[in-house]
Amino acid sequence: MPVTRKDIVDQVLRGRKANLTAEATAYAPANIALCKYWGKRDGELNLPVTSSLSISLGKFGSKARFAIGGNRDSVTLNGRVIDSTQPFAQRLFAFLDLFRPAPGAHFQVNAENTIPTAAGFASSASGFAVVVLALNKLFGWQLDERSLSILARLGSGSASRSIYTGFVEWHAGTSADGMDSYAEPLAETWPELRLGLLVVSGAEKPIGSRAAMKRTVETSPLYAAWPGKVAADLAELKAAIRAKDFERLGRTAESNAMAMHATMIAAWPPVIYWLPESLIEIRRVAALREKGVPVYLTMDAGPNIKLLFLDKDADAVQRTFPTAQIIAPFA
Ligand code: PMV
Repeated sequence: MPVTRKDIVDQVLRGRKANLTAEATAYAPANIALCKYWGKRDGELNLPVTSSLSISLGKFGSKARFAIGGNRDSVTLNGRVIDSTQPFAQRLFAFLDLFRPAPGAHFQVNAENTIPTAAGFASSASGFAVVVLALNKLFGWQLDERSLSILARLGSGSASRSIYTGFVEWHAGTSADGMDSYAEPLAETWPELRLGLLVVSGAEKPIGSRAAMKRTVETSPLYAAWPGKVAADLAELKAAIRAKDFERLGRTAESNAMAMHATMIAAWPPVIYWLPESLIEIRRVAALREKGVPVYLTMDAGPNIKLLFLDKDADAVQRTFPTAQIIAPFA
């Protein structure tokens, strides 16, 4: 019988006595992958085909207050009550089903994104990570970070990395139950590193990452090359981080994002997240680099751009990209 999400929750929580508190508050940072997670080997448990490596966005993420009560689940996001029929609420409530202390128990959730949601950077990573961190406090489970990472992964793959700050590696693992598929932080920090969030469009994406990954794995002839590319890029990125070699880091991260998008574009029907404006910004990054400013980019399942550069080049980058929101991940 295939392993279900509920089986894993039971396994992780086995022997834990719930010690319920009235309410609990938690925070989880968003993260941006330098080496991407693209493709699952198990869709129920969000087990990835490859490992991945991200950088945390520090104070940009999700805060949430959880309590048990009421006669149905309710969620407010940035002060607005979310209609329970919305896909976001449905996905959250289905995740909460895994953790109800009794069949009739309901959750009251008050969440706030410190990352601009409307600007197209809404993050399921910080969202599902904060749920798990808040439930850990609400129920007094006292789980270790590895267990928290496994539970967050059940909500959204990239959420496994949002349990930590700094550089984080999510180990793909090989076991069918995914108990060896969790994230861990790297020891290194890099205070001079900067990210620039460049909004191209806040509009709804044509296809969600879950469906897009599935289609890529099933139909893209380029997907066969992806695991090899990831293995090489992961080794490069870790070496670049150890050596504080920014150009090596930037080049590898940009090339990894481009290769991921190439696998999608070759799927059928094609998965194209880029908008014409994305391409304009991609060209602008290359042009600035040609002028001698070491700036690189990465992109996720959407049209927006994330710039990578060092503190010393922040002024040059801000001049070329006046609307970019600059983040110091290690501040
Ligand atoms: O965790 P998901 O299902 O939202 O997938 C995230 C996929 C990418 O953002 C494109 C890559 C990544 O590693 O975060």
